[in-house]
Amino acid sequence: MREAFRAAVLHCLADPGEGSDSAALQFFDDGLLIVEDGRVVEAGDASALLPQLADDVLLTEFPKKIIVPGFIDCHVHFPQLDIIASYGAQLLDWLNRYAFPAEARFADADYAREVADVFLNELLRNGTTTALVFGTVHAHSADAILEAAESRGMRLIAGKVLMDSNCPDDLRDTPESAYEDSKALIERWHGKDRLGYAITPRFALTSSAEQLAEAGRLAAEYPDVWIHTHLAENKAEVEEIARQFPERRSYLDVYEHYGLLRERAVFAHCLHLDDEDRSSMAARGGAAAFCPTSNLFLGSGLFDLRAMREANIRVGLGTDVGGGTSLSLLRTASEAYKVLHLKDQALPAPRALYLATLGAAEALYLDDKVGNFATGKEADFVVLDPAGSSLSERRTRVATSTEESLFAITMLGDDRNIAATYVAGQRAEIK
Ligand code: GUN
Ligand code: ZN
Repeated sequence: MREAFRAAVLHCLADPGEGSDSAALQFFDDGLLIVEDGRVVEAGDASALLPQLADDVLLTEFPKKIIVPGFIDCHVHFPQLDIIASYGAQLLDWLNRYAFPAEARFADADYAREVADVFLNELLRNGTTTALVFGTVHAHSADAILEAAESRGMRLIAGKVLMDSNCPDDLRDTPESAYEDSKALIERWHGKDRLGYAITPRFALTSSAEQLAEAGRLAAEYPDVWIHTHLAENKAEVEEIARQFPERRSYLDVYEHYGLLRERAVFAHCLHLDDEDRSSMAARGGAAAFCPTSNLFLGSGLFDLRAMREANIRVGLGTDVGGGTSLSLLRTASEAYKVLHLKDQALPAPRALYLATLGAAEALYLDDKVGNFATGKEADFVVLDPAGSSLSERRTRVATSTEESLFAITMLGDDRNIAATYVAGQRAEIK
């Protein structure tokens, strides 16, 4: 059935850059988004499209609201939902004090299913329709999140963590079980409905050389499966990598050596890289998840977006909950703006939107499916409410341009500014 949605409609056609390239953005002040069978038919001016609509097309109007593509979170841990906002530690201590104990509770499959359900409701409440998600070492954690996404019709990629060193005994797998369990999960889930699988070595410090080699073997056997890990987040972590892998030129070189740097490999953080790392990452088609709330909260460092984009690396935003402090990509973009400000870089609102939508889709190699309103793409979209909070209402009322409004919503916004979230053309029921 054909349906149409009327509001301001805004989406990116390309990266608007630091200077807001206006050709990269399409904006219809009084716009119409036409959807059929879960896909975009057309986005355009209401005045041009309304007269051509057949009488039986259902029209939903959202006055004073803005329709944008569904947000895409390029890096998040669903098992860390309940330790979000845990006090006082940098990465390696934080893992031991908070993350590992939280993940150990996922030995209970019922608990994993309960958290997966709450987590996806939170994503949808925040306008996030696609995510690349870490599980725990338990294979049933991947089943739990993928089942929950399947029941909601969401496009989602997830994987069980591979981890056999430098971690608590009850969170350890082995090189063999990591390979076998991941392979079984790939066969069960990858390409089913809108779901994908990611081979998920936690990071090079928690996998033996044998396990990294097994992960690489799996990645070679399944070239269209994703790879999802962490890279160069924290200075102490980078120093420890240099001690554990003295024969490798850099942290990224460890992953490259084991066959884990290729298209569809997504690396969270990427804060402490050099030019050679950036050119290898670009040449091999690896992507970065920029996770500003986490980088600030864990005191990790400042992401260099300009250097990454000048090197032609794909970049999307990640919330990195529970190291990150919000599941909202609006709040994440707001922190990204401040991080970049400290680096003398600009983040105009159109580019922030790009990093949360089309740029993220490019980072995940999903831009043929989602990320904007090009005809034929899957109709995942968000209805933004400038008046979602009394303060954002007051601020956007005096804005003199849509860009000014969008910037204010980006800086002030959160789930209160998400009036509705649509997944494949259907309004998500958010419990
Ligand atoms: N590096 C290895 N594991 C983790 C994790 O769970 N969170 C973050 N932020 N970094 C990591
Ligand atoms: Zn992370």
